[in-house]
Amino acid sequence: MQIEVKTKKGAIAYPAQPQEPLLYAALRAGVALPYECATGTCGTCKARRLSGVVINDWSEAPGRQFLKPERDEVLMCQTRALSDCAFEVPGNADLAVAPQPRPSFGEARIERIERLTADVAALHLSLARPIEFVAGQFAVLRAPQIAGFRAYSMVNYARPTTAIEFVIKRKPEGKFTDWLFSQAAPGDLLEWFGPVGKAVFDPHEQRTILAIAGGSGIASIVSILEAGCAVGHFDAFAASIFFGVRTNSDIFYLDRLNGFAAQFPERLKVTVVLSHDRPSEELRRRYPLIGFESGFPHEIAARDLAGDFAGRVAYLAGPPILVDVAIRMLVTQARLPARDIRYDKFS
Ligand SMILES: Cc1cc2nc3c(=O)[nH]c(=O)nc-3n(C[C@H](O)[C@H](O)[C@H](O)COP(=O)(O)OP(=O)(O)OC[C@H]3O[C@@H](n4cnc5c(N)ncnc54)[C@H](O)[C@@H]3O)c2cc1C
Ligand code: FES
Repeated sequence: MQIEVKTKKGAIAYPAQPQEPLLYAALRAGVALPYECATGTCGTCKARRLSGVVINDWSEAPGRQFLKPERDEVLMCQTRALSDCAFEVPGNADLAVAPQPRPSFGEARIERIERLTADVAALHLSLARPIEFVAGQFAVLRAPQIAGFRAYSMVNYARPTTAIEFVIKRKPEGKFTDWLFSQAAPGDLLEWFGPVGKAVFDPHEQRTILAIAGGSGIASIVSILEAGCAVGHFDAFAASIFFGVRTNSDIFYLDRLNGFAAQFPERLKVTVVLSHDRPSEELRRRYPLIGFESGFPHEIAARDLAGDFAGRVAYLAGPPILVDVAIRMLVTQARLPARDIRYDKFS
C-alpha cells in the first residue's frame, strides 16, 4: 500500500504492509511522523484520514481521548491500512527529516529473566540480527497471544549489538508483565520494533547532565551513563542522577550505578531517593559513593542543584506523575528551556 501524509510543509509518501501500524511503517521508511509513546496512550501521532480503508487495532486506546472522531482522526500507531490511504498530520513538522538509526522489525529470543526486586525484573534478549541505537532510546515488544506492542527502554549500550537488556516493572493485572513474570521462559520468542524515542544522549552536545528517574525509568539513564562513561564524557562534564523508588527493598542496580560513580567520582553523582522509607545504614556503608535521601527525586534535585541548573540537559523517565512534576520543577524553578528537557513517560 502507498500512504500519503500531508502537513503544512508539504506531502510525502511511503509504503506500508497490511500487518504493520502506519507509524512504524513511516519510521521504517525514514518518514518523521510525530510520536511519543508509539503504543497508543499519548495521542501525539494523531492524523486525519482523508481517504482509504483502515483498521483500528485498539478501540480502547487511551490516546483516542485526544481524537475528534467526527473529523475522522486516528492514532497512526494503532492504525493499519487495507488500501492506499491519505492522511493530514496537524502542525508543520518536516516529515523528511528522519532521525538515525532507522528502526526495523525483528525477532528476539528470551535469554534470561532475572528478578531484581519483588516486582522488577531484567529481561535479556538475543536478537536475530544486530540493532543500532542511541543511548536513551526504546524498543516496542510484542509477545505471542498478547495484543499490541509495549515500550521498554534499552538498559545497556553497545552498537551494533544482538544482546539487549530491559528492566521491567510488573504492573498489577498488566497483560505483558503478567505473562513475563509468571509464564515467560528462556527460549520464548518475541517480536520487536526499534529503536525509537527522542530522549537521547549525544556526547557531541558536550553538556552537563541532570537525570531524574522513577523505578524502572532508570533503564534509559543507565544506558546514557554507560555511553557517557565509554567516551569519557564525565572527564569534562558533570552528571547528577536522582533515582526514586519507594523503599529500601525496591532499590536495584546499586552495583552498576556505583561502578559508574567510581569511574568519575569528581563529576558523576548518584542519589537514590526513597519516597516511603528511610535509607538503610547498611546501604550507606556499602555504597559510600552513592547518596541516599528520603523524599521525592525532583524535590531533592531542586534542593541539591539550586543555582546550578544553567546549561544542563535534563533526562526524565518513569511514571507519568513523576515526569510531570519534574517538568514543572525544571520549567518554573530551574528555568530550563523546554528544548533541554527530554523525557519518556511510561504511559
Ligand atoms: C516510551 C516508554 C518507555 C517505557 N519504558 C519502560 C521501561 O523501560 N520499563 C518498564 O517497566 N516500563 C516501561 N514503559 C511502560 C510499559 O510500556 C508498559 O506500559 C508496562 O510494562 C505495562 O504493560 P502491561 O502489558 O503489563 O500492562 P497493560 O495495562 O496490559 O498494558 C499497558 C500498555 O500496553 C499497551 N497496550 C495495552 N493493551 C493494548 C492493546 N490491546 N493493543 C495495543 N496496545 C496495548 C499500551 O501501551 C498500554 O499503556 C514504557 C512506556 C513508554 C511509553
Ligand atoms: S505515539 Fe501514538 S498514541 Fe502515543
